[in-house]
Parts: sequence; structure tokens; C-alpha cells
Amino acid sequence: MKQREQWTSKIGFVLAAAGSAIGLGAIWKFPYMAGTNGGSVFVLLFIICTLIIGLPILLAEFVIGRRGKSDAVTSLKKLAPGRKWHWMGWMGLGSSFILLSFYSVVGGWILSYLVRAIFFKLDITDHSELFNSIIANPLEVLIGQAVFMVLTIWIVQSGIRGGIERASRVMMPLLFVFFILLAIRSLTLDGAMEGIRFLFVPDWSYLTGKTLLMALGQAFFSLSVGVTAMMTYASYLQKEERLGQSAFNVSILNIVISLLAGIVIFPAVFALGQSPAEGPGLIFVVLPAIFNEIPFGALFIIVFFILLLFATLTSSISMLEIVVSTGIRNKYERRKRAAWMFGILIFIVGIPSALSFGLLADVKMPGGGTIFDFADMLTSRIGLPIGALLISIFAGYVLTTAETDDELRMHPLLNRSWKFIVRFIAPIAIVIIFIASFIM
Ligand code: PHE
Repeated sequence: MKQREQWTSKIGFVLAAAGSAIGLGAIWKFPYMAGTNGGSVFVLLFIICTLIIGLPILLAEFVIGRRGKSDAVTSLKKLAPGRKWHWMGWMGLGSSFILLSFYSVVGGWILSYLVRAIFFKLDITDHSELFNSIIANPLEVLIGQAVFMVLTIWIVQSGIRGGIERASRVMMPLLFVFFILLAIRSLTLDGAMEGIRFLFVPDWSYLTGKTLLMALGQAFFSLSVGVTAMMTYASYLQKEERLGQSAFNVSILNIVISLLAGIVIFPAVFALGQSPAEGPGLIFVVLPAIFNEIPFGALFIIVFFILLLFATLTSSISMLEIVVSTGIRNKYERRKRAAWMFGILIFIVGIPSALSFGLLADVKMPGGGTIFDFADMLTSRIGLPIGALLISIFAGYVLTTAETDDELRMHPLLNRSWKFIVRFIAPIAIVIIFIASFIM
């Protein structure tokens, strides 16, 4: 029987966890969510939710994962024998499945833009029109989504995972440099300050329960928390790794990249006379327009989309990883086949989401949005918060303090604060936010 893998190097885990976290959540979803939820207030709530709720629960996933040393279901069975907690693992599988079904649609859009940037020029004047024509074309979106899924499956089932992680040591910092350059260009456009005001000067009329839940969901989504993804990654981990430090680094990095994405997008949105409430197309409409304003922009945009694709793949492989590892449990020899089988299934389930902007644009789901919006709502606003709530309760009440302290090995004061948060603050806050989203 095949052995369970372990991270080959100490840095492997941190890179993989950061790779899973940093992706479309920070770069694509954060700007569009901020744009449709009034900017600054959303930004503020997102930062607070990340630090007070997201970070401790991310750490909880690390603790449970390394303690359990197995796929989510097996780990939870091992840690709470004879109880129903392992259902949380199946729930994580379900959430990841749905997440990837629409995440891959956006991955497909990135491929479309990459191919266009290589073969045709993107220095057109109407970027909204281009985006709308792409997402409304059923063949193009489905091919994009299919190719993206094949890439994801291929990485998960082949031995090149380690290579991907090593490559991320170069690719991610490079992406960061690109964002800094884009931010500088965006900030020096005429009228850019309006965008900064939108992002950082609060308009309290947007402070509602719904915005709060959106911000909380965004914190979980972008930290990959609530679907047992981080739990699964931590299960491959050796004892020496400092979990608290890793959770802290991933959370801060995630906030920094999200803010940076906002600082790139919004000054340009206002300077170029576009709408902040553009929706899921926001970065696809705005980024090419910024590249138009940069010398050698046509070349740089190709490199940029390659880097963005890379960041997206390091997240999508973590979603497929949970589905596969939970799906096959200990039967490691079935990994290859399972990756293809689940991957294809996810693609099929994602087809209606892919067609939500064209053929199926008129189909309205509960909540009033499209099928794509519905898949997002099911996960970001329901699946992830419930998953995170359960994880928090598990770490706070089911695991003993001796067990958690043994994994945490932080300063006793930090250990205790963490325990207090996962026992009281985080679960209560999640429940209150959930209820508030219905009434205010
Ligand atoms: N955090 C990832 C991103 O921001 C998305 C993700 C969510 C990945 C949940 C795995 C699990 O792109």
C-alpha cells in the first residue's frame, strides 16, 4: 500500500498554505465585494473578521489537522471516537466541491484573457464590452473552465506538486512586485484619490448585518478556512512547525494582498470613469485598462496573467485535494483515478455556473442572483461560516487544553487567549453575524 505523503521541507507547508490562501479570493473577489458593498466599511469589517475570527480558526484547523494526521474524516474520527464530528469532514468535502465548481469558471476567464493577451492585443477602448462578450460565449467559458480543471487535476494527481510549491517561491513574490508597480501606476492617474477615499474613508450607511456576513464570508474564503482544506494540509506536517506563526503570517499576507489589490483597482476605477459596483468582472475590466497606461503594457499583461493563473491554481489544487483525500480516505493507490473522477464531476456541476452570464443569465435562484451567485452564496455565506463555527467548537471544547497546548506551543498567554477566542468569541460572533444578516 502506498504511503501517505509528507511535506518534503519545512518551507513546503508554509508555501502550500499561503498558496492555498492567496488566490482569487484576495485578488478577484475582495475588490469586487468591496466595490459592491460600499468600499471602506466592508474593508474595515474584513480586516477585523480576519484577525479576530479567521486567524484563530485557521490556527484551529492547523491544530486539528496535525493532531489527526489524516484526511479530515479519519482525523475527526480519531480525535472524537464514537461521535458525529466526522460529518464535518464530509461537509468540507461538499463545500470544496461547490467552491471549485465556480472557482474554475473564473480560472477559465483568466485563461481566456491570457490567450487573448498573447494572440490579440487587449488595447481596446471598451473593456466592459470585451468581458461581457467573453462571459456570454458558452463555448469560450466552457473550454476555459475545462482546461483550468484539467490543469488542476493534472497537478493534484501527478508528482509535480513539490515543483509547484518550489516555483511559488519565485512566482508569488513576482506577482507581489507586479501589484506594487500597478498600484503606483493606478495611484498616479488623474482622479485616483477618489478611489483611495472609497476604500478607506468609511461611509457608515453601509454598516449592515448583510455587509458583516459578506465580510466574514470573505475572510473565510480568502483564508481557505471552514472547508477543512487547511486541516488537510496541516495533516501532512511534522511536529516542529510553529503553527501560530504560520497562521499569523498567512493571515497578514492575505490582508496585505487584498488591500494591495484594492489599491490597484479602485483609483483606476474612479480615474477611468468605471463603476466600482461592476461585480465579478471588476478586475477583468480594470486591469487591462491599467496595463494600457503602462509602457510595454501588452507584454507585461501576459506575464501578469500567467502569475495570476499560477496563484489561482495553487488555490484550486487545495480544493481538489480535500475532495480527493476525503473521498478516498486511506486508499492512496486510488488517488490518480479519484482526482480525475472528482475533477470531471466538479466540472460538470460547474457548467450551469459557467453559463450564468450568457445562456442561463435569466435563471434566478433563491436569493435573487444567478446560478453562479447562488453557488458562491451557498459556500461563502452558509457553508464556510457553518464549517468554521464547527471547527471552532471542536477545537475549543472537544480537544483538551493539554492536547491543544501540545500542538500550539506558544507563550501560555497566547495559548489561553486563543482558547478563549475559539471557545467564546468566534462561535458567538459567527452566530450573531449570521442572525444579524437576516434582520438588519
Ligand atoms: N483561499 C482561496 C482563494 O482566496 C480559495 C479557497 C477557499 C481555497 C477554500 C481552498 C479552500 O483563492
